[in-house]
Amino acid sequence: MNILMASSESLPFSKTGGLADVIFSLSKEYVKLHHNVSIVLPKYKTNKVIKGLKLTKIFQLDVKMNWRTIPTAVYHCYYLGIDFYFIENQKYFERDSLYGFYDDGERFAYFTNATVKLISSLPYKIDVVHIHDHQVGLLPCVVKTLHSEEEIFNDMKFVLTIHNPEFKGYFSKDSLFDLYNLPISLFDEGKIRLDGQVSTLKAGIVFADKITTVSPTHAKELLTYEGSKGLNFDLNLRKNDFVGILNGMDNDFFNPKKDEYIFKNYGIKDVFNGKKENKIEFCKKYNLDPTLPLFVVVSRLSSQKGIDLLYPMIEFLSYTGSNVAIVGSGEKSIEDRFLELSRVNSKHIFIYIGYNEELAHKVYASSDFLLMPSSFEPCGLSQMIAQKYGSLPVVRRTGGLADTVDCFETSDEEKKAKDITKNGFGFSSYSISEAIVTAAKAMNIYSGKKEVYKKMVKNAMKLNHTRDNSAKKYIALYESIQK
Ligand code: GLC
Repeated sequence: MNILMASSESLPFSKTGGLADVIFSLSKEYVKLHHNVSIVLPKYKTNKVIKGLKLTKIFQLDVKMNWRTIPTAVYHCYYLGIDFYFIENQKYFERDSLYGFYDDGERFAYFTNATVKLISSLPYKIDVVHIHDHQVGLLPCVVKTLHSEEEIFNDMKFVLTIHNPEFKGYFSKDSLFDLYNLPISLFDEGKIRLDGQVSTLKAGIVFADKITTVSPTHAKELLTYEGSKGLNFDLNLRKNDFVGILNGMDNDFFNPKKDEYIFKNYGIKDVFNGKKENKIEFCKKYNLDPTLPLFVVVSRLSSQKGIDLLYPMIEFLSYTGSNVAIVGSGEKSIEDRFLELSRVNSKHIFIYIGYNEELAHKVYASSDFLLMPSSFEPCGLSQMIAQKYGSLPVVRRTGGLADTVDCFETSDEEKKAKDITKNGFGFSSYSISEAIVTAAKAMNIYSGKKEVYKKMVKNAMKLNHTRDNSAKKYIALYESIQK
């Protein structure tokens, strides 16, 4: 099959969150399954340069947006079996970060239109265009409304994956023609209208042939009023074409046995010595006491991640005999709150603001627990990585966290260590007291019931959340819509 992934970010070139990991790791898996896979991305100023990899200019396209015709260069490289295409535009993509600009709607409208143009310029026919999140949400609508007569688009199928339902891609009705050359009637009939505005995410839901999200539990949540972030009505109309497929993780990149970033490699057999050595080095480097339990946070710092719970949890843990290390970046106000917390208790709290892959790996390897009390979590990757590195997740049971962490229950306290099957700790309601009680439970098991803790660590490391499972499910989904 010829598959094109259309996304606003992907490793190894651009990343702000889990989306970038998923696009790249799924695509690598498709290559292994002998599919022809391409990824189209914006050519951001901040794109990572890979040593020895040269981008070649292959097309010059004219992208039409109402009265404007924008000359567009498309660059290409072939990397690990994947064809990467980059859409160049100085005005839209030569900026210091990926998102957060007043004209994001226009920037990604341009990217969507350019991608449609690219598809029609390729020397082969794409079978499935897999679009991700709101940035490219209008793509199926554009093709089906404006290009249905063109041979190259005949039989082309579209799959939308919702990684984050919070962002709807809103813009005003008046811009619909200006940005996408689309008729206002699409808005007036309600097809792409949400909350009185155009929503590119809703357009994806209405016009894609199949819709997915990134875990089965989150799929169920999205069909409910409370958990859908306003998408339940439209998703329920497409219920039969909507499914949750759990993301996998890259087991080669995240493997404590051969991870080049960590202080000492280890596997399940020598996990406790291995983690101890990592922790000693880590604590030495950042002035923490290595004899204390180490809880960590590796996260985008946004309210989605349960900051209102995280903050008191960190405060509680750091004042009751644990250390906490935080690696992440995001909203400035949240960064400042955490920086202040670490400033007043620097003996127990280490914080690094920024995205630092190497440090993140060190943190997974050195820690005993990962905190992830998200307010909602379509899938989440950090908890799976933590488990793989033998660090037990302490989570709020929502979305993908509920699907990947089997939480220690009160009834487990009666059991012998060898009979414990659990691999993390969790709580359900969005409540500070539940969050703190759960963190305290984790700490007590760690200090008072070492054998139970050790069994849970081994259970976690044995889990196999691999990306090949999810790749096979997506391929089966693509096949189900081929004629
Ligand atoms: C978004 C979601 C996260 C998910 C990731 C990749 O960042 O918030 O839960 O793991 O996308 O699908």
